[in-house]
Amino acid sequence: MTGHGSLRMEKLCYSVGGRTILQDFDFHLERGVNRTILGVSGAGKTTILKLLLGLLEPDSGSVHIGDLCITGLPESRFREQRKRIAIVFQGGALFDSMSVGENVGYRLFEEGVLSHAEIGRIVREKLRFVGVEAALNLFPAELSGGMKKRVAIARALAADPDYIFFDEPTTGLDPIGVYNICNLMQRLQAEGKTTLMVTHDLATAFATSQRFTFLHKAQMLFEGSEEEMKHSTIPEVREFLEPTDRSLFV
Ligand SMILES: Nc1ncnc2c1ncn2[C@@H]1O[C@H](COP(=O)(O)OP(=O)(O)O)[C@@H](O)[C@H]1O
Ligand SMILES: [Mg+2]
Repeated sequence: MTGHGSLRMEKLCYSVGGRTILQDFDFHLERGVNRTILGVSGAGKTTILKLLLGLLEPDSGSVHIGDLCITGLPESRFREQRKRIAIVFQGGALFDSMSVGENVGYRLFEEGVLSHAEIGRIVREKLRFVGVEAALNLFPAELSGGMKKRVAIARALAADPDYIFFDEPTTGLDPIGVYNICNLMQRLQAEGKTTLMVTHDLATAFATSQRFTFLHKAQMLFEGSEEEMKHSTIPEVREFLEPTDRSLFV
């Protein structure tokens, strides 16, 4: 089946509040090729993730999950396909009134397919994977920022997705927290998950991805490998890279 193992956007246009966020945007996330979308704050990175998940409708163009074009379809028609994709939202978006375990098992409980015992087993397994099994009965307010991120990742893993989206996963974390998240992403990739991250953190991007998309003024200004990006002569790409180069000398 052509296109089965990929997520795609074709000629996608999206604007909000009179501002064009994406203009004729073509995007391809191949299964097994971990990618980061880079761009300054407000460029439209989170918007791309929401469009790929079908949480937003484009003005024109289309989004495809494998062979299915989800644009214009009611959510009920692509629910099964969307289950292949999980997202770790920027703030973690945990439910404050639920324990860690309830947060991680939430979607499985909602689906009502698995027994409580089976869900409990999966919840513990995912929490163990991210290294916070001991937090099972704690509440989000009792967790550090780094732990919240890891619980949010465990929750994304509960439904065993093929693709995991990470929205600014390292923003606001200390160096150890950043290291832990990069390490987790690498372990997920080793288990066969495809990751798509959006961030302005170049170090995290280069540590976890093979391909890079640079979003600037509603366009894909660059697409390529780390080497290609580092040697790019596109002025906006250079400008994005250079403050990080200089910071090495601070
Ligand atoms: N509901 C909305 N109404 C008006 N503007 C919005 C809305 N949602 C997002 N935007 C604007 O869209 C742009 C892209 O947002 P976003 O995708 O969150 O950017 P990024 O994730 O790259 O920081 C921003 O300039 C933001 O202000
Ligand atoms: Mg964002």
